[in-house]
Amino acid sequence: MRNSRFPALSRSWEDVESEMKTARERDMPWRDARNFKPAYFGGEDLLAVADGALNMYLAENAIFSRTAYPSLGQYEEEVVDMMLSLLNAPDGAGGSISSGGTESIIMCVKSAREWARENRSSAATPEIIVPHTAHPAFDKAGHMLDVKVVRMAESTEWRADAAAMAEAVSGDSFMIVGSAPPYPYGETDPIAEIAAIAREHGLWMHVDGCIGGCILPFMRRLGEDVPDFDFAVPGVMSMSIDLHKFGYANKGVSLVLLRDAGLERYQRTSFGDWPAGIYSTANITGSRSGGPLASAWAVMNYLGEEGYLRIFAAQRDIKQRLMKGVGEIDGLEIIARPHALHFYFGSPEFDIFAVDTGMAAKGWSMTRAEQPDSIMMWVNMSHQDVVEEYLGDLQTTVADVRAGRVQPAEKSTVYVM
Ligand SMILES: Cc1ncc(COP(=O)(O)O)c(C=O)c1O
Repeated sequence: MRNSRFPALSRSWEDVESEMKTARERDMPWRDARNFKPAYFGGEDLLAVADGALNMYLAENAIFSRTAYPSLGQYEEEVVDMMLSLLNAPDGAGGSISSGGTESIIMCVKSAREWARENRSSAATPEIIVPHTAHPAFDKAGHMLDVKVVRMAESTEWRADAAAMAEAVSGDSFMIVGSAPPYPYGETDPIAEIAAIAREHGLWMHVDGCIGGCILPFMRRLGEDVPDFDFAVPGVMSMSIDLHKFGYANKGVSLVLLRDAGLERYQRTSFGDWPAGIYSTANITGSRSGGPLASAWAVMNYLGEEGYLRIFAAQRDIKQRLMKGVGEIDGLEIIARPHALHFYFGSPEFDIFAVDTGMAAKGWSMTRAEQPDSIMMWVNMSHQDVVEEYLGDLQTTVADVRAGRVQPAEKSTVYVM
């Protein structure tokens, strides 16, 4: 028998809270001293709006958004509509919310698989074709749905290798994927080219816009050179869009968007023979908090197109200042042409992870990546006033690395484990 770890006696909230505060403080002892902000930080006002709405609906169960809590149903419809119009969806398009990018992707693979069962000749092992950089959520989906994931061996010039994807199409393929943009490298895949392959072979084309779905439409309006990536591209059947990233909602809300609302029948699970009544949901989760959806609706109404344009313009400028400064440091190179608000840099001359180690010692928290070894930066509003300080520290750290005064602490680049 295991020893019970369940506390035998009740404790006061003050006691529990104090233990939790200490544990949280240990995560990042420098959190308060450095005024730490979440990765997707658009401003204190956004945090207040998102948290206010989250708290208002925290205890409401979003599974009952069409029955007990119709206001949540209304928010879902409106949030879906707002994003469909932003992403050039045609009349008749539809969508639903999920708990995150991974769930959205799993549901799109599931919808495409069911659609293929009805519309394509049967496959011994149904396959989806994904670029080298596609998010591992596609592999999770493949594992859960018994679908083979054919992942390309490499990217060409930091984007999906469309020629290799065309060659990979077989009689068992039913879906093809591009990302706008992917997490690695940050450059949008050639969506129009991949969609042309989809049209030629009758495949379901999915665009993973978990990062860029909210950003890219506004980058275009700001005059940035962003390739076509949304429902304006013929053949794009579905998109996954995370509102809990650059939509600035609290964690736990993403969108599954479909070119044709009728396709939702392939996504939905309905069960009628249950004493409690009909059970019909579009996504995986059952009970879940209404808070994240409420926070998305609140932030989208608070910002409007005007507000998103304003904060994306400001962050685009921060990104440009950072990229220019990094590119001017001898031995550092920017990787790819990043379309969203994250970018990578590396060095053909010295160990970039030593630079990371040196910068960490100066208090800068950055993210390591590989293929090639590189440092990844998420730009957010908290960086506005520290660009010069960061670049100055980067310059001295590079000089220290060149002179052998800093060694890398370790090579590992774990994303999540
Ligand atoms: C491009 C892309 N797609 C999908 C996901 C998965 O999203 P989530 O972590 O919300 O499940 C991520 C996460 O970073 C991502 O960057």
